[in-house]
Amino acid sequence: MAEVEIRAVSKAFGKTQAVGDLSLTVADGEFVALLGPTGAGKTTTLRLVAGLEMPDSGSIRIGGRDVTGDAPADRDVAFVFQQYSLYPHLTVFENMAFALRAPIRRVPQAEIRAKVHQVARLLQIETKLDNKATQLSGGQMQRVAIGRALVRSPQVYLMDEPLSSLDAKLRGEMRLELKRIQTDLGATILYVTHDQTEAMTMASRIGVIEAGRLMQIGTPREIYENPVSAYVAARLGQPAINLLPAALFAGVPPQARTIGARTEHLTIARGGGEVSATVTRIEHLGDQSHLHLNLRGQPVVTLSDPEANLGAGDVVSLRLNKPLFFDAAGARVAA
Ligand SMILES: Nc1ncnc2c1ncn2[C@@H]1O[C@H](COP(=O)(O)OP(=O)(O)OP(=O)(O)O)[C@@H](O)[C@H]1O
Ligand SMILES: [Mg+2]
Repeated sequence: MAEVEIRAVSKAFGKTQAVGDLSLTVADGEFVALLGPTGAGKTTTLRLVAGLEMPDSGSIRIGGRDVTGDAPADRDVAFVFQQYSLYPHLTVFENMAFALRAPIRRVPQAEIRAKVHQVARLLQIETKLDNKATQLSGGQMQRVAIGRALVRSPQVYLMDEPLSSLDAKLRGEMRLELKRIQTDLGATILYVTHDQTEAMTMASRIGVIEAGRLMQIGTPREIYENPVSAYVAARLGQPAINLLPAALFAGVPPQARTIGARTEHLTIARGGGEVSATVTRIEHLGDQSHLHLNLRGQPVVTLSDPEANLGAGDVVSLRLNKPLFFDAAGARVAA
């Protein structure tokens, strides 16, 4: 496998700056996830690496070689597309074997069979190998699309939301499976998702992208604990970080306009206090419960302590415990 280096790449479509001055290196054998909302430029970034789009400026290197001018076929990347485009008239087996059948690869028939069966087993689609691609559910098609990439041994895997069509249980299983495959192969993966759990659990580093710009890149822990902005802070954490006006609390740094309070930054006690809030709702999610509060018109959501036995209408006091602070522009302010 090989390192991927995106150097100061920009790409506009008409007036839309899809990717702006983006630099990012995925080390050999590393799993980097790009996390960002719809329209952030995630797919465009992958397409630029694959050579399906040409950058307006900047360059792309794979394995130390400048591939900016190379055709997609000369870059040796495997792309799992967001819209899994299978060959409808071919069976699952033939879809997965397709890339291995390319004349230049000269893979022996027995090896193709073995490889396709092995990957199909991992992806739990072995019983569907004889189905036409049109005779599959969306989640099965998505796994065939992943399988088509995994049967190859490219320099780099590019994966665009490859688990988005799967139900929660299968997605959890595939997360573990993909991570295991990546570790076993020492594969270099640039992975796109808007699912924070996928990014947190699979990636060695997460790049947070907004409007074509890379806002921060770091380990999941760095991004979670040490976000550079309120925007980045809001990408990770369930329930999401509470962004509250600084004026609601005392002892806030002077430049801070917004307090970022996650569950672990809030101490909640029954009865009023210096800062009081009213319980509006307890949301039971099975393994956890969310406590919804009204703090002088501001909604606050935290994990609820099951022992606390609170209900709607109860009054509680809130204390901050080393929260995050942000200035008027949303940039992080030191505590
Ligand atoms: N071929 C194109 N022509 C014109 N505009 C495009 C084209 N491809 C992408 N865009 C625009 O570029 C921006 C980034 O699109 P992109 O597909 O990279 O987003 P994304 O982060 O992958 O979003 P999603 O999560 O919805 O898949 C969007 O505003 C999109 O409308
Ligand atoms: Mg996309």
